[in-house]
Amino acid sequence: MPTELAPPALAEARVAKSLAERDVAAMAHPYTNLSAHQRTGPLVITRGEGVRVFDEQGRAYIEGLAGLWCTALGFSEPRLAEAAARGMRRLPFYHTFGGKAPAPTIELADRLLALAPVPMSKVLFSNSGSEANDTAIKLIWYYNNALGRPQKKKIIARKRGYHGVTVATASLTGLPANHIDFDLPIDRMVHTDCPHWWRYADEGESEDDFAARLAQNLERLIIREGPETIAAMFAEPVMGAGGVIVPPASYFSRIQPILKHYDILLVADEVICGFGRTGNRWGSETFGISPDMLTCAKALSSGYIPISALLISEPIWQGMVAESAKIGVFGHGYTYSGHPVAAEVALETLALYEERDILTHVRKVAPVLQDGLRALADHPLVGEARGVGLIGALEIVADKNTKAAFPAAGGVGAYLSQRAEANGVITRIIGGDIVAFSPPLIIEASQIREMLARIGRALDETWSWLRTGA
Ligand SMILES: Cc1ncc(COP(=O)(O)O)c(C=O)c1O
Repeated sequence: MPTELAPPALAEARVAKSLAERDVAAMAHPYTNLSAHQRTGPLVITRGEGVRVFDEQGRAYIEGLAGLWCTALGFSEPRLAEAAARGMRRLPFYHTFGGKAPAPTIELADRLLALAPVPMSKVLFSNSGSEANDTAIKLIWYYNNALGRPQKKKIIARKRGYHGVTVATASLTGLPANHIDFDLPIDRMVHTDCPHWWRYADEGESEDDFAARLAQNLERLIIREGPETIAAMFAEPVMGAGGVIVPPASYFSRIQPILKHYDILLVADEVICGFGRTGNRWGSETFGISPDMLTCAKALSSGYIPISALLISEPIWQGMVAESAKIGVFGHGYTYSGHPVAAEVALETLALYEERDILTHVRKVAPVLQDGLRALADHPLVGEARGVGLIGALEIVADKNTKAAFPAAGGVGAYLSQRAEANGVITRIIGGDIVAFSPPLIIEASQIREMLARIGRALDETWSWLRTGA
């Protein structure tokens, strides 16, 4: 009977299709040109080993961005796989609602408080950087209501900052693609200058003068909006997705007194910088930041399992306690907040960072990345090479003197990314034509050299394509 034959026949047809075809037929991809993807299809990755991942054909790529700035311990750490399996067997799920607590989650909270760059009082878990930042926004509003300041609710973020993609965090994110036609930003969010000296400094302006000008602009913004309406500022120590922007050395020491003066909280978004990326455990340590709240994710579990954490200072905690006493409950939390398996993996990740002294390793190999990137600054396509620790970028320009970017429609970034892949490196082109590097923290000096040599070849091939069309 035809109706009985139909299901196996359909199943066979599905098997016969390649994974790439099935991807195009079945999946919507984040941060992808969805129209172009229907023609180009995916790069299907099937396994990982150390700092490399492998595609369906078995081709190896150095993962120059640690996936999405996250797989600090590389792609094949057996101790993390064992921690996940152990957690699954012992307690595959429990939650933190209504005063319950899985044992490893308590241990992880304790551990994070011990590691915090400044004294923190409590940890509230979520599953992603966006959720941690979204939670921080809600707590800022809750706290100001607890203090009887219902008008003090606006939040400042920076142009080109990245804080996530929920309705509220995408509104904080200062990148056009996260706003356009999503009807964002919502109100209460205001944006101040991006601290990228190379691109935005006035003629002849020193880095410190630039930082001073930005601090002055911030204060003007606060006064214009009304200090009594501004609750907090969010900042990544190094801006990641907006282009790997390392602020001037004096930037944070100049803006923090202004925030203090107007009683404005500072939230350090350590989702990328946390756990060693900048050469210290926290970006806050590298840049002298004293945050009132801190968000972390990504390297918290080496990207092996979704988990994020929000560290909360004592005054904010006291506000939460007061509000929940008044209302009867603290009305916030995700089903998977503090998931025990994620907590087991995170605890093991933090233990491995200590055991292997990852910080010392990062400090040892960071100069190889930073010097290697700066050596590529002489390339005719590179406007600026920048970075700190094991995060860096090459900003591609059409004209080294004017710093003009290539027209977006020209596809230079896409071509360079394709040539990088053809040369065996996966990286990400962000913020126009900026090539970002944030390799696994376990990367060896020789692997950094190999990665940069391949990027050098990709740059040469792109240069040749631009000049000759071939
Ligand atoms: C600094 C920063 N904050 C927040 C986020 C959002 O994290 P998620 O993608 O896990 O929601 C990211 C993601 O890249 C990030 O880099």
